[in-house]
Amino acid sequence: MPNDRGPGTDGRPDSASDDVADRWRSAQAWEPAPDDVIDVWRFELEVQDDDWAILTPDETQTANRIVVEEKRNRKASARAHLRRILARYLGTPPQDVRFTYGEHGKPMLAEHDEPRFNLSHSESKGLAAVSRGARIGVDLELAREGREFTEIADRFFSQAESAALRALPPEARPAAFYRAWTRKEAYLKAWGTGLSFPSNRFTLDYVGEGPGTLLSTEMPEDDVSRWHFKDVELGPAYTGAICLEGPDRPFRWWVI
Ligand SMILES: CC(C)(COP(=O)(O)OP(=O)(O)OC[C@H]1O[C@@H](n2cnc3c(N)ncnc32)[C@H](O)[C@@H]1OP(=O)(O)O)[C@@H](O)C(=O)NCCC(=O)NCCS
Repeated sequence: MPNDRGPGTDGRPDSASDDVADRWRSAQAWEPAPDDVIDVWRFELEVQDDDWAILTPDETQTANRIVVEEKRNRKASARAHLRRILARYLGTPPQDVRFTYGEHGKPMLAEHDEPRFNLSHSESKGLAAVSRGARIGVDLELAREGREFTEIADRFFSQAESAALRALPPEARPAAFYRAWTRKEAYLKAWGTGLSFPSNRFTLDYVGEGPGTLLSTEMPEDDVSRWHFKDVELGPAYTGAICLEGPDRPFRWWVI
């Protein structure tokens, strides 16, 4: 049921079945919550004064490989935001957060099993989610019009997903495409496989209303009932999705 009290009201988590629109509350109201609550964070990728200062030399070097200044600053800003977000849960200064990386590059905390987290950034926006006891993946995409959506789907989606896109009227395809893409990417990011697991080897339900479900997967030792999806409401230009392991949970939505 939609929250009729609007954002910034009481800091209580949404119930698991609530609509996600108009949920965002100021990060200033953040406080620790019970372990089953999932926190979602959104932020603008604008460099703040100490962004570069809290990055490690490795992170600085990685960002500095990006030639275009705006993109370089956004990369640094995303990592600095991630550090500040995780520092809240760990009770340490942002520069003291230590990362380690999975086989395919997924960042995790080096010195703690929890919380788990995932980050996505697209153009000027960033999105992160933090969970305890459950794998989580997030994806954010700036929706671009005029792309060859069915051709891209033929390449990256399963046959059933691709057929479902072609069956839609052309005007409905862009939004459906980005819904499918972000959910699929969030699933791969929850697993941390990156491109090592082909995106056409699992099928999501994405055409209808609601967050959709995983219909089939060839991911080793996976089970379709393991995952829940959540759409992230970010206005008309961006599409965001979260893939969460286990039963649905209460969510809180924070804007920095
Ligand atoms: C990194 C990857 C997982 C996502 O890339 P992306 O969509 O361009 O970028 P996003 O902004 O969503 O995510 C990047 C962030 O994810 C995190 N990340 C990196 N590798 C990851 C992995 N293997 N799993 C989960 N998260 C990962 C990092 O925090 C990274 O940001 P940072 O490097 O600035 O810290 C990419 O390697 C990938 O595999 N993409 C799949 C592309 C694809 O075929 N999609 C088909 C969907 S139908």
